[in-house]
Amino acid sequence: MMNKFNFDEIIVRRGTGSLKWDRNTQLEPFWVADMDFKSPPCLVEALQQRLNHGVYGYAIPHAGLTEAFIDYAKTRLSVDIEEEWLCPLGGLVPALSIAAQAYAKEGQSLMTSTPIYTPFLKVGRDAQLETIGVAHIYNTDLSRWEMDWESMEKNVQANTRLFLLSNPQNPLGRAFDRAEIIALAEFCERHDLILIADEIHCDLILDEAKTPHFSGLNLPEKLRERTVTLLSPSKTYNMAGIGFAYAVIPNVKLRNKFILAKGCTQPEINCFAYYAAEAAYRAGEPWRQELLSYLRGNRDLLVETVNNQLPQIKIPVIEATYLAWLDFSETDFEKPAELLEKQGIFTAPGAWYGQEPALRINYACPRSKLENLLEKLTITFGS
Ligand SMILES: Cc1ncc(COP(=O)(O)O)c(C=O)c1O
Repeated sequence: MMNKFNFDEIIVRRGTGSLKWDRNTQLEPFWVADMDFKSPPCLVEALQQRLNHGVYGYAIPHAGLTEAFIDYAKTRLSVDIEEEWLCPLGGLVPALSIAAQAYAKEGQSLMTSTPIYTPFLKVGRDAQLETIGVAHIYNTDLSRWEMDWESMEKNVQANTRLFLLSNPQNPLGRAFDRAEIIALAEFCERHDLILIADEIHCDLILDEAKTPHFSGLNLPEKLRERTVTLLSPSKTYNMAGIGFAYAVIPNVKLRNKFILAKGCTQPEINCFAYYAAEAAYRAGEPWRQELLSYLRGNRDLLVETVNNQLPQIKIPVIEATYLAWLDFSETDFEKPAELLEKQGIFTAPGAWYGQEPALRINYACPRSKLENLLEKLTITFGS
């Protein structure tokens, strides 16, 4: 079948006020999690239409968006969502911070598993909470990272109030399965924690038949009542610069606490975001399927190259996300990202995620760019 969308196209992003490309103009960027691809045409067209209206006053979610999201939740997550569960936000990180403030108070703690997307390690500070980071453990048989249940039991405190989950996991690329998510929800129930499930990467599972997404919203009702699920089209459809997310909170008490903690801290969501989100949820699927196919090609090339040419670097089976976690703990390299910078390559150092020596690579780029990165990787770390 002919491809309809061209992910090989090199798009010049430098000089467009891009965080990824303009933070350090000397280096080729493979760090922050956005893609070097254009968003789907349906999304661009929806934005153009809204732009052409010419009036950009305060906005609210329009009926078409709510309908598209509820339909998405039903078809993709197999969940019947009620409109009142939805709290729209201009981004997902604020939701993590609001949750920390809503469900815990000064002197209490939250728990998460590391390495983890950096804001998970920071939002506790917004609520003056201690952050308990428990390291994942590597399952060599399955070449994947897993929760360390024993260590979680050992480290959870009487004053721990929340668990912050990234599923699929950034940076480890895991799509946690049903049994793991149920075990985690039961851990939360046992210790009376609220489970905050950040599922921003859930439409970026690379083989959905093999490792389907199990959402916090798929939990049995009793466990789901203590969850806040965070969903967004922004990673999948590359619209992070527009900003849109939903906190989905079925339990009314938890929802009211969240809304109270949000208070007046958030700006109005911009009028374009609602229309971009609607277009993504309503019409983005054919583009997403081609994106996943392209990303699988990139992932396979990256994993094969590391496994064949740099076997001392540990790379897991990447089930989801366009991020790869390279673990250097069995090598002599202490700060691998710094060495790559000498080759003109900007990756994200493991320290940002709470674990060195490691680095995170964003491989959502045209294949030719990835090939250049792989050459630099083998020059830098090959024997
Ligand atoms: C797990 C996770 N949550 C949240 C975000 C960012 O969300 P937002 O840009 O909507 O604040 C990212 C971005 O990489 C992420 O990986």
